[in-house]
Amino acid sequence: MALGEDGMAARHSEDTTIHAETMLSVVVPTYNESKNIHEMVNRLDAALKGILWELIFVDDGSPDGTADIVRAIAREDRRVRLISRHNRRGLASAVIEGALAASADIVAVMDGDLQHDESVLPDMYRQVRDGEADLVSASRFLLADGAKGLSSAKRAAISNNGIKLSNLIFKLDMTDPLTGFFVVRRDVVRRALPDLSELGFKVLMDLIVSARPRPRVVEVPFRFRERKHGASKLDNRVMYEFFLFFIEKRISSILPLPARFISFAFINSIGILVHLAVLFPALLLLGNRGAGDGFVSAQLVATFVAMGFNYTVNNLVTYSDRQLRGAKFYFGFLVFATLCSVGILGNVGVASVLHEDYPTLSVFIPAVAGALITVVWNYVATNAFVWGRAKYPSIMVRRRASLKHAGDQQAA
Ligand code: GDD
Ligand code: MN
Repeated sequence: MALGEDGMAARHSEDTTIHAETMLSVVVPTYNESKNIHEMVNRLDAALKGILWELIFVDDGSPDGTADIVRAIAREDRRVRLISRHNRRGLASAVIEGALAASADIVAVMDGDLQHDESVLPDMYRQVRDGEADLVSASRFLLADGAKGLSSAKRAAISNNGIKLSNLIFKLDMTDPLTGFFVVRRDVVRRALPDLSELGFKVLMDLIVSARPRPRVVEVPFRFRERKHGASKLDNRVMYEFFLFFIEKRISSILPLPARFISFAFINSIGILVHLAVLFPALLLLGNRGAGDGFVSAQLVATFVAMGFNYTVNNLVTYSDRQLRGAKFYFGFLVFATLCSVGILGNVGVASVLHEDYPTLSVFIPAVAGALITVVWNYVATNAFVWGRAKYPSIMVRRRASLKHAGDQQAA
């Protein structure tokens, strides 16, 4: 029974058959898109006549109730499904999880804010189905006015430089490797899985460079529309993730460090500068009379400020997808500070043992070894117990539940 053929009518009929032969799974990541969902479903329904499709929304607990709207539609139209993720954020991982949950062999990925023109979907689908390409992406830069929907000159410039950089670094030849609109064979996604980055807004590029053999890519033009409702989530934090993504991909063949570790280590090295920047004024203030109390107090203050800096900035950028807010933020800092103190003890311990046992060695080596022990310990321990799925005492969780709403709305 071809539901797609009589489109709109079918949505309102009693037919809730699950179609074994779904041909195209459309994956739509959403965060605060409540005003766009109905229109999105209607437009796809109209555009995909003659194709058996399913539509999978992947929502990350949008505070504006996007998930409820999807669920209400899904109750009446079994082609529409919801994946609702808890305590997580991230466009790239949402897309990947949606694609993995797809029933069709061919997956389309598009934004849920109506900026992507659904009328080009059937042609993209056809090219993948007929084996003309493994991946067809829709480019904003093949038509003279295709990218008008970019909200500002700044966004356009970011896009432009991002494209040049991506093509250069990954030896691609695409007019729009950063687009979020593409159709791909599901097995390309599966083949890319082991090498996909945890981070990144740029899932298309990651798929292309991670899948082996590299998929054959074809670009088609489309006009990027302006956003009517809601706001873009592409901000400076995303740019930073982009930067980490490049580093991770480039060095992963030599040194397989996760992007998160790179970010953590990078921020902590800025933390050392913060420490020094606080220490010297504090010494002047508290008085540095020999090795007296002044030094100890100044050192304590500087350590505390540096820890606060490391914690806050890592929470904002390294763990932007698992950000702790409200009461959890403060509790997390307590755990963070405790774990990092253990890290400092480890540092001093390792460095002094090395220095005593190998007195002829330059002091540089024990110092670096100690610092390495600290950063690795701090990363592993806080990754697991601060930003991991750590269980906080129930009193913290209950308080957080009431604070969460306010926090999320501020962030949105
Ligand atoms: N589940 C989930 N989780 N969805 C998200 C998240 C998230 O953390 N962040 C954004 N989204 C959803 C949005 O709701 C929207 O449907 C889609 O992902 C794109 O997000 P926008 O915030 O509208 O991105 P944009 O329009 O600024 O960026 C678009 O253009 C970029 C190139 O300039 C996207 O298509 C990007 O993928 C693309 O790289
Ligand atoms: Mn958008």
